[in-house]
Amino acid sequence: MTPRRTLPLLLSSLLLAGAALSGSGSGAAAEPAAGPAVRPLGAVVPAPASVTPGGEPYTLGRGTAVRVDSADRESRAIGRYLAGLLRPATGYPLPVVDDDAARGGILLRLDPRATALGDEGYELRSGPGGVTLTAHAPAGLFRGVQTLRQQLPAAVERRTVQSGPWRIAGGTVTDTPRFAYRGAMLDVSRHFFTVDQVKRYIDQLALYKINKLHLHLSDDQGWRIAIDSWPRLAAHGGSTQVGGGPGGFYSKDDYREIVRYAASRYQEVVPEIDMPGHTNAALASYAELNCDGVARPLYTGTEVGFSSLCVPKEVTYDFVDDVVRELAALTPGRYLHIGGDEAHSTSHADYAAFMDRVQPVVAKYGKTVIGWHQLTGARPAPGALAQYWGLDRTSAAEKERVAAAGRAGTGIVLSPADRAYLDMKYTKDTPLGLSWAGYVEVRRSYDWDPATLLPGLPETAIAGVEAPLWTETLSESAHLDRMAFPRLPGIAELGWSPAATHDWESYRLRLAAQGPRLSALGVDFHRSPQVPWE
Ligand code: ACM
Repeated sequence: MTPRRTLPLLLSSLLLAGAALSGSGSGAAAEPAAGPAVRPLGAVVPAPASVTPGGEPYTLGRGTAVRVDSADRESRAIGRYLAGLLRPATGYPLPVVDDDAARGGILLRLDPRATALGDEGYELRSGPGGVTLTAHAPAGLFRGVQTLRQQLPAAVERRTVQSGPWRIAGGTVTDTPRFAYRGAMLDVSRHFFTVDQVKRYIDQLALYKINKLHLHLSDDQGWRIAIDSWPRLAAHGGSTQVGGGPGGFYSKDDYREIVRYAASRYQEVVPEIDMPGHTNAALASYAELNCDGVARPLYTGTEVGFSSLCVPKEVTYDFVDDVVRELAALTPGRYLHIGGDEAHSTSHADYAAFMDRVQPVVAKYGKTVIGWHQLTGARPAPGALAQYWGLDRTSAAEKERVAAAGRAGTGIVLSPADRAYLDMKYTKDTPLGLSWAGYVEVRRSYDWDPATLLPGLPETAIAGVEAPLWTETLSESAHLDRMAFPRLPGIAELGWSPAATHDWESYRLRLAAQGPRLSALGVDFHRSPQVPWE
């Protein structure tokens, strides 16, 4: 799909369109002329690949129905999700009906011939008679629903009845993602987050078309997933967190519930067990995992690099086999992340030997390896992904090692810490977060191109981007909100939108319009002075 217009062009035509539409009375005779101007078509985050504004808007009304192919379970569920989003603020009944049972309204349709839309693409057509979302696959309908939702006034996100009108600008959006892997990571180890807190984050990610939820399930400070064959991992290793609070862990049913909920938002859970370093919680739970046979004390500080599984001991591989087997069995997604970062207490030879033994275990249980990019210093398994978390100032040699792995077939997920780490402070005055990678204001976070970040890395080797959220300093949903927003939408846009749409000056205006939406959703975000908030 070629982008039909670049954002600077889009912006000027949008301003014109907005002015024209707000002055036109919109032709919907039954609706009051007052109310917010129609949001220009395509003025959403992430920017769509192709936008052709034109014609009169659609106006939702008391009679609007959501029409689906009721024989298709997923279309039905997406229709119910959409109606559930729109009912509280509009106060309209928005019945979800079979597409033959009504005309007009909002139609969600799967078209087996629309192969150009791929797994996640969609087309949105809007006009006075209705809105039609077409996709080749259910995930595409779900992504299109997020565009439709963002076209409506921000007040639609409120959970009590608001005044409309509820108009969606006329025209056509045709949209497919730039990268297949568009992730967000949540560190539930340094501080534990409940299933409901994780669901809240999943819902926020959905709005920006994120499709991978990477859960950092183990680290020095906490083991967060029940493993039946090694029960002390969760019972003891999960019993605290940074600062010494009570910690917590997910039962297998809890984890299944997260997986189910993420799947309902078309997000694939990528579980991470970080190895061979970042393993103090495991080493505290089982003495035999330590080379000296002595269990370590639980750890509630924030240092890194002091722990290591015992690479020469066979019991280490019994442990890895059991953990990977049980976690793989719980995880329908394709990937299992084995960490591999900051193994400063493991010799290089041991590190490489460990990875040579562990990667085949992941394959044995049907999963594809992801590792932090230090894995490229060992021997990444065929098909593995490496997640790059370096900085601008990372040495040219280290960047070249990652680029060379990419050229040799390892897929690269880009999470540059001085751009994409959502836990970095925005400025020196940000109360939460860390600053070891520098201060990362909104522009810095957005204003880079995945294709040129690593010299010598071909774009075809880039699996996508991911925004990690580490939680050494974050212990509540409000903290996550404050650090993720508004940077998460920018990383999501880098993952979704074509390079031709990349433009800070127009992005900041589209982002500004997200402010009232985030507020309506109860997200207290960082009001960066770089963005002219609406
Ligand atoms: C990392 O930030 N240690 C991956």
